[in-house]
Amino acid sequence: MGGTDQGRATRRSPATPNDTDGKENGGGVTRNLPSDAVINLDHGDPTMYEPFWRKLGDKCTIVIKGYEHLSYFSSNKNPCWFLEPKLEDSIRSLHGAVGNAETDGYTIVVGTGSSQLLQSVLYAVSPPDQPNPMNVVSAAPYYSCYPETADIVRSGVYKWAGDAHGFDKDGPYIEFVTSPNNPNGVIRGPVVNRDGGIVVHDLAYYWPQYTPITSSLDFDIMLFTASKCTGHAGSRIGWALVKDKDIAKRMVNFMTVTSIGVSKESQLRVAKILQVVADGCKRFGSPDGDNLFEFGRNMMAKRWEILRETVKKTQMFTLPKYPLQHCNYFGDLTQAHPGFAWIKCNDGMEDCEEVFKGSKILVRSGRRFGSDPGYARVSMMSKDDEFNGFIDRLSSMI
Ligand SMILES: Cc1ncc(COP(=O)(O)O)c(C=O)c1O
Repeated sequence: MGGTDQGRATRRSPATPNDTDGKENGGGVTRNLPSDAVINLDHGDPTMYEPFWRKLGDKCTIVIKGYEHLSYFSSNKNPCWFLEPKLEDSIRSLHGAVGNAETDGYTIVVGTGSSQLLQSVLYAVSPPDQPNPMNVVSAAPYYSCYPETADIVRSGVYKWAGDAHGFDKDGPYIEFVTSPNNPNGVIRGPVVNRDGGIVVHDLAYYWPQYTPITSSLDFDIMLFTASKCTGHAGSRIGWALVKDKDIAKRMVNFMTVTSIGVSKESQLRVAKILQVVADGCKRFGSPDGDNLFEFGRNMMAKRWEILRETVKKTQMFTLPKYPLQHCNYFGDLTQAHPGFAWIKCNDGMEDCEEVFKGSKILVRSGRRFGSDPGYARVSMMSKDDEFNGFIDRLSSMI
């Protein structure tokens, strides 16, 4: 987390109440924030899923005894020797049930969050014998952690080279393509499109609660994370689907050297959770309400509707519009409800982050995404009380 999307100056607001002073509300917990509380919507902490998981009670409980899972090793057959077979099964079963990515013929590499996989992929695709470091680019507005991911270890074989739109250097390069994009929710493809380019598809938000699922993707390198799929960011589990076995092996080598694998407790917990999601997501409109994606889409749709109404009344801000598209998973025409709102402050307000800060709302400046400070990114994935507080304060800005 340190220095990343969540870590920098983004501790949970001390004013955020703890669980003991909440009142139950249909399986969730709502609280009223004190009117002077700081509302931290700077990070993408996916706590909105808590009511869903509360409602499911013990369905995802696993017990790990003191004598179990002592070994470093999980499988002597898998190139990713620390990947728990149960996690591999549930990842494949979830993608199959949702239809958002192909898994046949892919090696799965598990990481401590997709953050670690981003590091490992940079290492794995950068040849050690180039005269100059590989350039790493992404089209602005790009996920704000990419520059620091590329530069933190001051590697000699790759380095951050900025906005892909302006990239005109010769030689091999790596392009991160985030789709739907963080911060603006747009579906994207690569922009450089030159020989010698390696494209890494970061698909953290390619799940039906955020965006219509229009095809089952089969790119060479695809990254996913439990953090944004199910909300279990604290378990720190991400996975890569990698076509090229040598690249996968080098990624595994990176994990071996940096952390000798990934926590088995986390893998087993997430394996259980993903399997419960995969089973539940085949039932639509179930009275048990055990379809995570229905829960997620309903909640996101409601929040986006409230936000759009409020923004319209203020006349101070502009929000992106998203096209209606057929979602193969829900089988209907729908639009995106991204995990972040990419808000533009209208004329005369040059620093959008500061405008929100004036109402004690922490958001992330467009500057951090290689874009204009007239934009800010606001998390839509917070708990109800934070979202409601945000809307109240937005309304009173009129
Ligand atoms: C686009 C994108 N990629 C990767 C990550 C990293 O996620 P994690 O390390 O929690 O798996 C995030 C988190 O915010 C993200 O937004």
